Amino acid sequence: MRGSEWLITLGLSPLCWASTLPAEQHPLSDVEVAGTKLSVTRDLIALHKNLTQIESISGNEKEVGDWLAASLESQGYTVEKQIVEKDPERFNVFAWPGKVRDAPVVLSSHIDTVPPFLPYHYNHTDKTIFGRGSVDDKGSVAAQIIAVNKLLSKGEISPDDVSLLFVVGEEVGGAGMRKANDLGIKPKTVIFGEPTEGKLVSGHKGTMQMVVTAKGKSGHSGYPWLGRSANEVLVRALEPVITLGDKLPKSDKYGVTTFNLGKIEGGVAANVIAESATAKIAVRIAEGTPETIQKGATKAVHHAVREFLEGEMEPEDIVELDFGGKGYGPIDIDADVPGFEVITVNYGTDIPWLEKLKGQKRYLYGPGTIFVAHSADEKLKVDDLYDAVEGYQKIVLHALGKGENDKQAKADL
Ligand SMILES: *[C@@H]1O[C@H](CO)[C@@H](O)[C@H](O)[C@H]1NC(C)=O
Ligand SMILES: *[C@@H]1O[C@H](CO)[C@@H](O)[C@H](O)[C@H]1NC(C)=O
Ligand SMILES: [Zn+2]
Repeated sequence: MRGSEWLITLGLSPLCWASTLPAEQHPLSDVEVAGTKLSVTRDLIALHKNLTQIESISGNEKEVGDWLAASLESQGYTVEKQIVEKDPERFNVFAWPGKVRDAPVVLSSHIDTVPPFLPYHYNHTDKTIFGRGSVDDKGSVAAQIIAVNKLLSKGEISPDDVSLLFVVGEEVGGAGMRKANDLGIKPKTVIFGEPTEGKLVSGHKGTMQMVVTAKGKSGHSGYPWLGRSANEVLVRALEPVITLGDKLPKSDKYGVTTFNLGKIEGGVAANVIAESATAKIAVRIAEGTPETIQKGATKAVHHAVREFLEGEMEPEDIVELDFGGKGYGPIDIDADVPGFEVITVNYGTDIPWLEKLKGQKRYLYGPGTIFVAHSADEKLKVDDLYDAVEGYQKIVLHALGKGENDKQAKADL
C-alpha cells in the first residue's frame, strides 16, 4: 500500500501520523518561512524505497508519478502535472515549495526505468539496496527531494529558491524533458541527477544511431553469380565502420567516437542468397556534430561496397544508411562547484533536450554507478545515497551564491 492511499483512506494529515513515530525516526519537519507552511520529510531510505517499489518502465510512469505528486503535495509543495505527448497517463511532475513557480534553481531527474522490473530488496548486512531504478534514477530523485527538504528545514534556503522537475521517458528518447521546454520557466541553474558516483560531470559524449541496410538479389546458393548477397554487402560495408572512430576527429576531453555494432541480421537460410541484411549501430560522439559523423560514415560505407556495383548502379542502390535524426554532439556541463571530483561520462542524458538559456548553469551529479544501472544487478549503497544528499545541498547552495566558498569570499572582503 502506498503512502498517499494510506493518508487518503485514513484522512490523516502527515503531521498526525508522524507524531506517533519514535523521535529518532521522526521523518517530518515543519517549516514556516515568510508565510509558507511546509511539512517536509527527511526520511531518505523510506522515500527511496517507496519510489523504487513502484514499477515505472518507460511508458508506464503513471503510478509512480501519481505517488510522487501526492507525496510532494502532502509535504506542502505546489504540484503541477505536465501531460506529455497528449497522453494523460504520462506526465512530468513539477513542484515548488514556496510561492515562486519560476525559481532560480531547478533540480531534475527521471522517474522512468528500463525493463524488466526488479523488486526492491534491502540487504542490511552490506547496507545495499537492490532493485530496478534503485540507482537509475530513483536514487537521484529521492536524494534531490531530501536535500531540498533539509536545506528548507535548516533555513539555509528560502522556499522561493528552488523547484523540482521529475520527468518521464528519459530512457527512450527524452519525451518528458523535451516537453519541459513548454513549462515557461527560466531557471538560472538546472541540477540534473544521474548516477555519477558522487562526482561532478563536466560533460558527456554525444550520441546518434545508425542503421545500415544492404539490399541483395536472392537466388540459389549454387549459382552465386546470378544474385548478390546482401550479407556480403553488409559485411564489406561494416568493415570500415569498426575502425572509423580512429579516422574521425578526436577530442582531448572525450577521446574517440565509438561505433557499437549492436545488432546484425541478414538472410533467411544457408542455401539461399541473402536478399536483405541490416546492422543497428549506436554511435558515441567524441567530437563534432551528428552531421560530421553522418558524412564520414556515408563516405566510408559507399567506398567499401563499390566492388558490388554493376553498370549504372550507385552505392545508394545496394546500401541504405539511416541516421534517425535524433542525435547530438558532445555536451559540455558546468563543474565549477568546489570540493567535488570531476569526471566525464560516455552515456547520454536528458540534458541536451532541455533548451539551454543564455548564461544558464547546468550540473550533473548523483549517487551510484552507471556500471550497474540497466543491469540485472542494479544496486545502490546506502552510504552513497546519504552522501548524494550532502552533495546536492552543496550544489544548490553554490548555485544560490550561499556556498562555503561564497561565505569565505564575503568574509575576506
Ligand atoms: C512510504 O510509504 C509508507 C507506506 O505507505 C508510508 O507510511 C511512509 O510515510 C512513506 N514515506 C515516505 C518518506 O514517503
Ligand atoms: C546480504 O549480503 C551479505 C554480504 O554480502 C550476504 O552474505 C548475504 O547473503 C546477503 N543477504 C541476502 C538476504 O541477500
Ligand atoms: Zn538515468
